[in-house]
Amino acid sequence: MGTFFAKKYTIAHSSIFKNNAMFIKQIYFGSNEYDQMLHLRNEVLRKPLGIQFTPEELSKENEDFLIAAFEDGKITGCCMLIPRNKETVQLSQMAVQQNWQGKGVGKSLINFAENLVKNIGVHSVEMEARDSAIGFYEKFGYAIQGDGYIKVNTPHHLMKKILV
Ligand SMILES: CC(C)(COP(=O)(O)OP(=O)(O)OC[C@H]1O[C@@H](n2cnc3c(N)ncnc32)[C@H](O)[C@@H]1OP(=O)(O)O)[C@@H](O)C(=O)NCCC(=O)NCCS
Repeated sequence: MGTFFAKKYTIAHSSIFKNNAMFIKQIYFGSNEYDQMLHLRNEVLRKPLGIQFTPEELSKENEDFLIAAFEDGKITGCCMLIPRNKETVQLSQMAVQQNWQGKGVGKSLINFAENLVKNIGVHSVEMEARDSAIGFYEKFGYAIQGDGYIKVNTPHHLMKKILV
């Protein structure tokens, strides 16, 4: 599955866009930027829950599309796209540095991720949303699917959007 997407994604490898002073771009597993991303994800998503990423979880990320926002060379936010099948990708690990939250970074990350998804010819995006972020995703047309559940000790709902 990873190979399928990697082949089709060659165009988007150079994809980058500028939104005022902020850059959003695809980053690469094992790079210095990936280290920054992991630090951000641990700070924003895991430390508040008292847990950390395991090496097993991270080892699978070399097949995913890693996306990060930067301001003056420093990471301000990130997300990932995980190919699930030929029709669907999962948006995951959406996190914005605490002092950057509420300033449009998350919105820009979602826009960038959705453009990337369309570029590779996929139209269905789903995610496991923390309940505290459901309102954020609803703003961009994502809809709850089914009942809630607990993951990493946190209430979640599956959400989905068909891109047009
Ligand atoms: C949720 C998160 C990614 C949103 O990113 P952000 O950069 O703060 O969001 P933006 O500034 O781009 O906000 C875009 C819109 O969503 C709204 N919004 C942001 N966070 C929201 C939330 N948690 N609930 C409801 N609405 C929210 C904003 O008010 C804004 O609305 P507007 O366009 O009407 O003004 C970020 O706050 C974050 O990292 N939170 C902690 C980690 C987390 O919960 N991640 C998601 C895991 S599923």
